[in-house]
Amino acid sequence: MEKKESYIEEKFGTLLAQVKDQLLVSKAKLIILDLMENGNGGKGWDNWEMPFTLNMQFDARYTLAHHTYWVTKIALSVAQMFEEAMNIPINYDFLIIGGLLHDVGKLAESKEKETSFTRDTEIFRQFRHPAYGAMVAKQHGLPDEICHIILAHAHEGDELYRSKEAQIIHRADFIYYGTLRSHLGLK
Ligand SMILES: [Fe+2]
Repeated sequence: MEKKESYIEEKFGTLLAQVKDQLLVSKAKLIILDLMENGNGGKGWDNWEMPFTLNMQFDARYTLAHHTYWVTKIALSVAQMFEEAMNIPINYDFLIIGGLLHDVGKLAESKEKETSFTRDTEIFRQFRHPAYGAMVAKQHGLPDEICHIILAHAHEGDELYRSKEAQIIHRADFIYYGTLRSHLGLK
């Protein structure tokens, strides 16, 4: 457990330190620990080092942990611009925790298979990571505004009204993904 806690601190500590509501921080850590314990048939904690997407193969450095950190950083930059230049208020606590947890369900919907990862799991078939992550967040008592960000970050949110924070995380997610694709010369 201690090793997992120090991993979370190492990877996400600088972002968690920007969250004002300490109850949200401790709940977010518990959710991450829960999925690190229970994902991948109970041996999933190092899944943060799995590729951030299994749709295609990127360089190994683009792990789920890297993606999660940088999507949240991109979202923070965008949010600051809206707030400072356009006077549009943003709930940074919701934005940061939503960013850190948006893909946390991937720890559960994916599992290791031989030397790679697969989504051959019931959680992938029944829920996919946005819905599963939102459900786990709700179970741990996170506010609906954060569960909404997690649920709506991918196409599950396309038919919903997205909150400002959900919209920013959704777009930040695709800035990371789309820019990497372009960088590699892919459509
Ligand atoms: Fe993502």
